Amino acid sequence: MVCLGNICRSPIAEGIMKNMIQINHLNWMVDSAGTESYHVGEPPHPYSQKICQKYHVDISQQKARQFVVEDFKLFDKIYCMSKDVMNIVKHQAGSSFDENKVSLFLNELYPSENRSVPDPWYGEEEDYVIVYDLINKTCEKIVAKYKSELF
Ligand code: 4NP
Repeated sequence: MVCLGNICRSPIAEGIMKNMIQINHLNWMVDSAGTESYHVGEPPHPYSQKICQKYHVDISQQKARQFVVEDFKLFDKIYCMSKDVMNIVKHQAGSSFDENKVSLFLNELYPSENRSVPDPWYGEEEDYVIVYDLINKTCEKIVAKYKSELF
């Protein structure tokens, strides 16, 4: 799960997905990262933590890290929260870029529409509520799609 800062959107996606993995007894590994380094080592944004807490998703122990090219080797799937993030991932990966592994996260909920999860960084608390809802619905779709597949 990749966004820009790894403090607003992708930590929510990591937290929700980890909960769903546990509930569905899946052996998936999930992590999140940001394309930028501004917030490396920081915990998720207080509003991201607050909305997750409301749904019993604990993201308080997460620490922001930067996306690295090695993530292409480690993960089967790389979900980008937005188009700008996808372009940066493509650029950073250079020859390691694998287009079969990288997708826009919201294309799982709205196929082929190439929508982005809105960046709530300059927003208010209600923007994080909208983002949580979008991410939660998309994670449900992803689990339903892949849960019967063996990796
Ligand atoms: P995120 O949000 O990519 O969802 O973590 C942002 C967090 C910080 C910044 C931009 C987006 N920033 O410019 O510092």
